[in-house]
Amino acid sequence: MNCNYLAFEGIDGSGKTSFIEGLCEILDNQSKKYKVVREPGGTELGEGIRELLLSHEYKVPDMSEAFLFCANRAELIKEVVIPEIDSGSIVISDRSAYSSIAYQGAGRELGVDKIYQLNDIALDGFWPEKVVLLDIDPKISLERQKISDRIGSSEIKFFERARQGYLDLSVKHPDKFLVIDAEKEFSKNLDIICEWLSIGKT
Ligand code: TYD
Repeated sequence: MNCNYLAFEGIDGSGKTSFIEGLCEILDNQSKKYKVVREPGGTELGEGIRELLLSHEYKVPDMSEAFLFCANRAELIKEVVIPEIDSGSIVISDRSAYSSIAYQGAGRELGVDKIYQLNDIALDGFWPEKVVLLDIDPKISLERQKISDRIGSSEIKFFERARQGYLDLSVKHPDKFLVIDAEKEFSKNLDIICEWLSIGKT
């Protein structure tokens, strides 16, 4: 595999979890050492922040939301991601700081440059090396998977802006992003991902 820190990104219902499971099965067959982390979450503090972010119990202003994601990330990167990579594992992240650029920067319209800077501070510059972006029309993805958490139950226009935010990122960083048409057949898409990551499927 040609990278140590890989993130899967995409709007809600794009199928990240299935692709991560598919990739892990292949890595298991090859006895590769890896660690899957999810954002928000990934640590005890992170799971607490996740609850604050996703529960309908709290009214979270947009900029507070952006800072809460960063608070989670600042710990996760230092306590989990970097030590795992240093110990020889591949880290596979179910979402990353790029979610914040798409959702908070573009979706909430807080500004992608501002949210980039905020996250760059939280990560101390340690961004994922590669990103698989599962691109899908939110009308289809939200039909596929009904999301009931606070952010996932936002209006469709929010997801349309987030999707565009992701696509803009992929244009800005063509070597880092692989854009997958998530409406196409799963196994063919998994082949494309494996080829891009230089891993055989056996
Ligand atoms: P999660 O439940 O992991 O979503 P999914 O089921 O699609 O993987 O993530 C919770 C929600 O948080 C999801 O709607 C995306 C949103 N989110 C942001 O708005 N900004 C972020 O930085 C992250 C990591 C997630």
